[in-house]
Amino acid sequence: MLIKRPPDIPSSEITSRNLFENRRAFLARAGVGLAAGAALWHGVPEAARATSTSTALATTPSAFSTTEALTDYKSVTTYNNFYEFGTDKADPARNAGRMVVRPWTLRVEGLAGRPRTFDIDALLRLAPLEERIYRMRCVEGWSMVIPWVGFPLAALLKDVDPLGSAKYVEFLTHYDPEIMTRRPVLEWPYGEGLRMDEALHPLTLLAVGLYGETLPNQNGAPVRLVVPWKYGFKSAKSIVTIRLTEKQPATAWNRAAPQEYGFYSNVNPEVSHPRWSQATERRIGELRRRPTLMFNGYADQVASLYQGMDLRKHY
Ligand code: MTE
Repeated sequence: MLIKRPPDIPSSEITSRNLFENRRAFLARAGVGLAAGAALWHGVPEAARATSTSTALATTPSAFSTTEALTDYKSVTTYNNFYEFGTDKADPARNAGRMVVRPWTLRVEGLAGRPRTFDIDALLRLAPLEERIYRMRCVEGWSMVIPWVGFPLAALLKDVDPLGSAKYVEFLTHYDPEIMTRRPVLEWPYGEGLRMDEALHPLTLLAVGLYGETLPNQNGAPVRLVVPWKYGFKSAKSIVTIRLTEKQPATAWNRAAPQEYGFYSNVNPEVSHPRWSQATERRIGELRRRPTLMFNGYADQVASLYQGMDLRKHY
Protein backbone atom coordinates (compact mmCIF):
# COMPACT_ATOMS: atom_id res chain seq x y z
CA MET A 1 0.00 0.00 0.00
CA LEU A 2 2.00 2.98 1.23
CA ILE A 3 5.35 1.29 1.29
CA LYS A 4 5.53 -0.16 -2.19
CA ARG A 5 3.47 -2.45 -4.24
CA PRO A 6 4.25 -5.94 -2.97
CA PRO A 7 5.10 -8.66 -5.43
CA ASP A 8 2.46 -11.30 -5.99
CA ILE A 9 2.19 -13.90 -3.29
CA PRO A 10 4.95 -16.46 -3.84
CA SER A 11 3.70 -19.88 -4.76
CA SER A 12 5.45 -21.32 -1.70
CA GLU A 13 2.93 -19.45 0.45
CA ILE A 14 -0.08 -20.88 -1.31
CA THR A 15 -1.32 -24.13 0.12
CA SER A 16 -3.34 -26.67 -1.70
CA ARG A 17 -6.89 -25.45 -1.97
CA ASN A 18 -8.50 -28.82 -2.51
CA LEU A 19 -9.93 -28.95 1.02
CA PHE A 20 -12.05 -25.85 0.88
CA GLU A 21 -12.34 -24.58 -2.61
CA ASN A 22 -15.35 -26.61 -3.56
CA ARG A 23 -18.45 -24.62 -2.78
CA ARG A 24 -20.73 -27.62 -2.89
CA ALA A 25 -18.62 -29.53 -0.44
CA PHE A 26 -18.69 -26.49 1.80
CA LEU A 27 -22.47 -26.28 1.66
CA ALA A 28 -22.77 -29.97 2.36
CA ARG A 29 -20.67 -29.48 5.49
CA ALA A 30 -22.75 -26.46 6.46
CA GLY A 31 -25.95 -28.40 5.97
CA VAL A 32 -24.72 -31.15 8.24
CA GLY A 33 -23.33 -28.72 10.76
CA LEU A 34 -26.30 -26.44 11.11
CA ALA A 35 -28.49 -28.76 13.09
CA ALA A 36 -25.61 -29.69 15.33
CA GLY A 37 -24.72 -26.11 16.16
CA ALA A 38 -22.30 -25.66 13.31
CA ALA A 39 -19.05 -27.16 14.50
CA LEU A 40 -18.33 -27.24 10.81
CA TRP A 41 -14.66 -26.87 10.51
CA HIS A 42 -13.32 -29.96 12.14
CA GLY A 43 -11.92 -30.39 8.61
CA VAL A 44 -9.44 -27.54 9.17
CA PRO A 45 -6.06 -29.17 9.76
CA GLU A 46 -4.96 -28.48 13.34
CA ALA A 47 -1.59 -27.17 12.16
CA ALA A 48 -3.30 -24.60 9.96
CA ARG A 49 -5.35 -23.17 12.79
CA ALA A 50 -4.02 -19.84 13.88
CA THR A 51 -4.93 -20.02 17.53
CA SER A 52 -6.01 -22.82 19.77
CA THR A 53 -8.65 -20.53 21.25
CA SER A 54 -10.97 -20.41 18.23
CA THR A 55 -14.42 -21.69 19.07
CA ALA A 56 -17.16 -22.85 16.73
CA LEU A 57 -20.05 -20.47 16.09
CA ALA A 58 -23.60 -21.44 15.17
CA THR A 59 -24.60 -19.69 11.96
CA THR A 60 -27.31 -19.53 9.36
CA PRO A 61 -26.41 -19.21 5.66
CA SER A 62 -27.06 -15.89 3.93
CA ALA A 63 -28.63 -15.08 0.59
CA PHE A 64 -25.90 -12.45 0.18
CA SER A 65 -23.20 -15.12 -0.16
CA THR A 66 -21.29 -15.62 -3.39
CA THR A 67 -21.09 -19.14 -4.74
CA GLU A 68 -17.48 -18.68 -5.88
CA ALA A 69 -14.74 -21.02 -4.69
CA LEU A 70 -13.42 -20.19 -1.23
CA THR A 71 -9.85 -19.11 -0.59
CA ASP A 72 -8.19 -21.76 1.55
CA TYR A 73 -8.10 -21.29 5.33
CA LYS A 74 -4.33 -21.11 5.45
CA SER A 75 -4.06 -18.22 3.00
CA VAL A 76 -6.92 -16.37 4.71
CA THR A 77 -5.14 -16.62 8.06
CA THR A 78 -1.47 -16.25 7.10
CA TYR A 79 -1.48 -13.67 4.28
CA ASN A 80 -2.71 -10.60 6.15
CA ASN A 81 -2.50 -6.86 6.53
CA PHE A 82 -2.54 -5.79 10.19
CA TYR A 83 0.21 -3.20 10.31
CA GLU A 84 0.13 -2.85 14.08
CA PHE A 85 1.78 -6.29 14.10
CA GLY A 86 4.21 -5.69 11.23
CA THR A 87 4.11 -4.89 7.52
CA ASP A 88 5.04 -8.32 6.14
CA LYS A 89 2.09 -10.44 5.09
CA ALA A 90 3.26 -13.18 7.46
CA ASP A 91 3.79 -10.86 10.47
CA PRO A 92 0.21 -10.71 11.79
CA ALA A 93 -0.08 -14.52 12.04
CA ARG A 94 3.28 -14.57 13.83
CA ASN A 95 2.69 -11.65 16.20
CA ALA A 96 -1.02 -11.07 16.80
CA GLY A 97 -1.26 -13.99 19.22
CA ARG A 98 -0.04 -11.55 21.89
CA MET A 99 -3.31 -9.62 21.77
CA VAL A 100 -5.77 -10.56 24.52
CA VAL A 101 -9.23 -10.60 22.92
CA ARG A 102 -11.31 -11.65 25.90
CA PRO A 103 -12.56 -9.80 27.89
CA TRP A 104 -13.19 -7.12 25.26
CA THR A 105 -15.59 -4.23 25.10
CA LEU A 106 -16.91 -2.26 22.16
CA ARG A 107 -18.08 1.26 22.97
CA VAL A 108 -20.73 2.78 20.66
CA GLU A 109 -20.93 6.52 21.27
CA GLY A 110 -21.41 9.95 19.75
CA LEU A 111 -24.69 11.06 18.20
CA ALA A 112 -26.82 8.24 19.56
CA GLY A 113 -29.95 8.23 21.69
CA ARG A 114 -28.74 5.18 23.62
CA PRO A 115 -24.92 5.06 23.60
CA ARG A 116 -23.75 1.72 24.98
CA THR A 117 -20.74 -0.38 25.81
CA PHE A 118 -21.07 -3.97 24.63
CA ASP A 119 -19.19 -6.80 26.21
CA ILE A 120 -18.04 -9.18 23.45
CA ASP A 121 -20.38 -11.91 24.71
CA ALA A 122 -23.36 -9.53 24.65
CA LEU A 123 -22.32 -8.51 21.14
CA LEU A 124 -22.36 -12.13 20.00
CA ARG A 125 -25.96 -12.38 21.21
CA LEU A 126 -27.17 -9.10 19.69
CA ALA A 127 -28.34 -10.59 16.40
CA PRO A 128 -28.39 -14.02 14.73
CA LEU A 129 -24.95 -14.90 13.36
CA GLU A 130 -24.91 -15.40 9.63
CA GLU A 131 -22.35 -16.95 7.39
CA ARG A 132 -21.57 -14.50 4.59
CA ILE A 133 -19.27 -15.62 1.82
CA TYR A 134 -17.85 -12.42 0.36
CA ARG A 135 -15.36 -11.52 -2.33
CA MET A 136 -12.68 -9.30 -0.78
CA ARG A 137 -10.44 -7.07 -2.91
CA CYS A 138 -7.26 -5.49 -1.54
CA VAL A 139 -6.07 -2.21 -3.04
CA GLU A 140 -2.71 -3.93 -3.62
CA GLY A 141 -4.28 -6.03 -6.38
CA TRP A 142 -5.10 -9.39 -4.80
CA SER A 143 -8.43 -10.83 -3.82
CA MET A 144 -9.89 -13.65 -1.75
CA VAL A 145 -13.27 -15.27 -1.13
CA ILE A 146 -13.87 -15.56 2.62
CA PRO A 147 -16.68 -17.22 4.58
CA TRP A 148 -17.20 -14.60 7.30
CA VAL A 149 -19.42 -15.03 10.34
CA GLY A 150 -21.20 -11.95 11.63
CA PHE A 151 -24.31 -9.82 11.52
CA PRO A 152 -25.26 -6.59 9.74
CA LEU A 153 -23.69 -3.51 11.35
CA ALA A 154 -27.19 -1.99 10.99
CA ALA A 155 -28.41 -4.23 13.84
CA LEU A 156 -25.86 -2.68 16.21
CA LEU A 157 -26.50 0.87 15.02
CA LYS A 158 -30.27 0.51 15.39
CA ASP A 159 -29.74 -0.72 18.92
CA VAL A 160 -28.12 2.60 19.93
CA ASP A 161 -30.71 4.74 18.14
CA PRO A 162 -28.73 7.12 15.88
CA LEU A 163 -29.77 10.78 16.08
CA GLY A 164 -30.87 12.57 12.91
CA SER A 165 -27.64 14.57 13.00
CA ALA A 166 -25.49 11.40 12.75
CA LYS A 167 -24.22 11.38 9.14
CA TYR A 168 -21.07 9.26 9.46
CA VAL A 169 -19.74 6.34 11.46
CA GLU A 170 -16.15 6.27 12.68
CA PHE A 171 -14.33 3.08 13.68
CA LEU A 172 -11.33 3.09 16.02
CA THR A 173 -9.32 -0.01 16.65
CA HIS A 174 -7.28 -1.38 19.53
CA TYR A 175 -3.81 0.06 19.98
CA ASP A 176 -1.42 -1.18 22.65
CA PRO A 177 2.22 -0.09 22.15
CA GLU A 178 3.33 -2.86 24.53
CA ILE A 179 2.37 -5.53 22.02
CA MET A 180 2.08 -3.61 18.74
CA THR A 181 4.61 -1.64 16.72
CA ARG A 182 5.64 1.78 18.00
CA ARG A 183 6.78 2.80 14.52
CA PRO A 184 4.57 5.49 13.03
CA VAL A 185 3.78 3.43 9.93
CA LEU A 186 0.29 4.91 10.16
CA GLU A 187 -1.27 7.12 12.80
CA TRP A 188 -2.44 4.84 15.61
CA PRO A 189 -5.05 3.85 16.52
CA TYR A 190 -6.08 2.75 13.03
CA GLY A 191 -9.23 4.65 12.11
CA GLU A 192 -11.81 4.15 9.39
CA GLY A 193 -15.17 5.62 8.47
CA LEU A 194 -18.36 5.10 6.48
CA ARG A 195 -21.22 7.35 5.48
CA MET A 196 -24.34 6.46 7.49
CA ASP A 197 -26.15 4.94 4.50
CA GLU A 198 -23.11 2.78 3.75
CA ALA A 199 -22.93 1.70 7.38
CA LEU A 200 -26.63 0.77 7.38
CA HIS A 201 -26.42 -1.11 4.08
CA PRO A 202 -27.37 -4.78 4.55
CA LEU A 203 -24.06 -5.95 3.01
CA THR A 204 -22.00 -4.15 5.68
CA LEU A 205 -21.03 -6.77 8.20
CA LEU A 206 -19.72 -6.71 11.73
CA ALA A 207 -17.67 -9.90 11.60
CA VAL A 208 -16.86 -12.03 14.63
CA GLY A 209 -15.65 -15.16 12.85
CA LEU A 210 -14.55 -16.89 9.69
CA TYR A 211 -14.72 -20.47 8.47
CA GLY A 212 -17.35 -21.18 11.16
CA GLU A 213 -15.13 -20.18 14.09
CA THR A 214 -14.30 -17.06 16.10
CA LEU A 215 -11.84 -14.77 14.30
CA PRO A 216 -8.14 -15.58 14.53
CA ASN A 217 -6.33 -12.58 16.06
CA GLN A 218 -4.53 -11.77 12.80
CA ASN A 219 -7.89 -11.37 11.05
CA GLY A 220 -9.10 -8.79 13.57
CA ALA A 221 -10.41 -10.65 16.62
CA PRO A 222 -12.74 -10.35 18.32
CA VAL A 223 -14.75 -8.00 16.09
CA ARG A 224 -14.03 -6.28 12.79
CA LEU A 225 -15.76 -4.54 9.96
CA VAL A 226 -16.29 -6.15 6.53
CA VAL A 227 -17.39 -3.93 3.62
CA PRO A 228 -17.15 -6.13 0.52
CA TRP A 229 -17.61 -3.47 -2.19
CA LYS A 230 -14.70 -1.38 -0.87
CA TYR A 231 -10.96 -2.00 -0.82
CA GLY A 232 -9.93 -4.16 2.12
CA PHE A 233 -8.40 -1.36 4.16
CA LYS A 234 -11.89 -0.01 4.97
CA SER A 235 -12.49 -3.23 6.92
CA ALA A 236 -11.02 -2.14 10.27
CA LYS A 237 -9.84 -4.89 12.59
CA SER A 238 -10.13 -5.36 16.37
CA ILE A 239 -12.57 -2.48 16.86
CA VAL A 240 -12.96 -0.89 20.30
CA THR A 241 -14.95 2.27 19.51
CA ILE A 242 -17.70 3.09 17.03
CA ARG A 243 -18.59 6.77 16.99
CA LEU A 244 -21.56 8.38 15.25
CA THR A 245 -20.54 11.79 13.92
CA GLU A 246 -21.87 14.73 11.96
CA LYS A 247 -18.62 15.35 10.07
CA GLN A 248 -16.74 12.94 7.85
CA PRO A 249 -14.14 11.27 10.08
CA ALA A 250 -10.42 11.13 9.27
CA THR A 251 -9.17 7.70 8.23
CA ALA A 252 -5.73 6.13 8.70
CA TRP A 253 -4.87 5.69 5.02
CA ASN A 254 -6.35 8.98 3.90
CA ARG A 255 -4.27 10.77 6.53
CA ALA A 256 -1.14 8.94 5.44
CA ALA A 257 -1.54 9.45 1.67
CA PRO A 258 -4.62 11.50 0.68
CA GLN A 259 -3.77 11.46 -3.06
CA GLU A 260 -3.72 7.65 -2.99
CA TYR A 261 -6.51 6.68 -0.59
CA GLY A 262 -9.80 8.57 -0.53
CA PHE A 263 -12.63 8.34 1.98
CA TYR A 264 -14.86 6.21 -0.24
CA SER A 265 -12.35 3.65 -1.55
CA ASN A 266 -14.95 1.81 -3.59
CA VAL A 267 -13.49 -0.94 -5.74
CA ASN A 268 -13.37 0.64 -9.19
CA PRO A 269 -11.48 -0.91 -12.13
CA GLU A 270 -11.73 2.41 -14.01
CA VAL A 271 -9.95 4.53 -11.43
CA SER A 272 -6.29 3.64 -11.10
CA HIS A 273 -4.31 4.01 -7.94
CA PRO A 274 -1.77 6.75 -8.80
CA ARG A 275 1.00 4.12 -8.92
CA TRP A 276 -0.78 1.13 -10.48
CA SER A 277 -3.89 0.07 -12.38
CA GLN A 278 -6.89 -1.43 -10.59
CA ALA A 279 -8.26 -3.03 -13.78
CA THR A 280 -7.27 -6.59 -12.87
CA GLU A 281 -6.57 -8.62 -9.75
CA ARG A 282 -5.00 -11.86 -8.68
CA ARG A 283 -7.31 -14.17 -6.78
CA ILE A 284 -5.08 -15.86 -4.21
CA GLY A 285 -4.59 -19.45 -5.34
CA GLU A 286 -5.02 -18.66 -9.04
CA LEU A 287 -2.26 -18.01 -11.55
CA ARG A 288 -4.02 -15.84 -14.11
CA ARG A 289 -5.17 -12.36 -13.25
CA ARG A 290 -8.88 -11.71 -13.62
CA PRO A 291 -10.72 -8.49 -14.42
CA THR A 292 -11.76 -6.47 -11.39
CA LEU A 293 -15.50 -5.81 -11.20
CA MET A 294 -17.11 -2.45 -10.43
CA PHE A 295 -17.89 -2.30 -6.70
CA ASN A 296 -16.16 -5.69 -6.49
CA GLY A 297 -19.18 -7.31 -8.15
CA TYR A 298 -21.72 -5.79 -5.74
CA ALA A 299 -22.86 -3.00 -8.10
CA ASP A 300 -26.48 -4.22 -8.22
CA GLN A 301 -26.75 -3.78 -4.47
CA VAL A 302 -24.71 -0.62 -3.87
CA ALA A 303 -24.37 1.51 -7.03
CA SER A 304 -27.48 3.52 -6.07
CA LEU A 305 -25.67 4.81 -2.95
CA TYR A 306 -23.37 6.82 -5.23
CA GLN A 307 -25.83 8.07 -7.84
CA GLY A 308 -24.84 11.50 -9.11
CA MET A 309 -21.38 11.35 -7.54
CA ASP A 310 -18.22 11.68 -9.61
CA LEU A 311 -16.38 8.52 -8.59
CA ARG A 312 -13.10 9.78 -10.08
CA LYS A 313 -13.23 12.66 -7.66
CA HIS A 314 -14.66 10.69 -4.74
CA TYR A 315 -12.22 7.77 -4.99
N1 MTE B 1 -7.20 -2.95 10.56
C1 MTE B 1 -6.22 -2.58 11.38
N2 MTE B 1 -6.52 -2.28 12.67
N3 MTE B 1 -4.92 -2.46 10.96
C2 MTE B 1 -4.57 -2.72 9.66
O1 MTE B 1 -3.39 -2.59 9.31
N4 MTE B 1 -5.32 -3.41 7.44
C3 MTE B 1 -6.44 -3.31 6.49
C4 MTE B 1 -7.71 -3.98 7.01
N5 MTE B 1 -7.92 -3.67 8.42
C5 MTE B 1 -5.59 -3.13 8.76
C6 MTE B 1 -6.91 -3.24 9.25
C7 MTE B 1 -6.09 -3.84 5.18
S1 MTE B 1 -4.96 -2.93 4.28
C8 MTE B 1 -6.66 -4.98 4.67
S2 MTE B 1 -6.37 -5.45 3.05
C9 MTE B 1 -7.51 -5.83 5.50
O2 MTE B 1 -7.59 -5.38 6.86
C10 MTE B 1 -6.94 -7.24 5.49
O3 MTE B 1 -7.78 -8.13 6.18
P1 MTE B 1 -7.36 -9.67 6.28
O4 MTE B 1 -5.94 -9.73 6.72
O5 MTE B 1 -8.31 -10.30 7.25
O6 MTE B 1 -7.52 -10.25 4.89
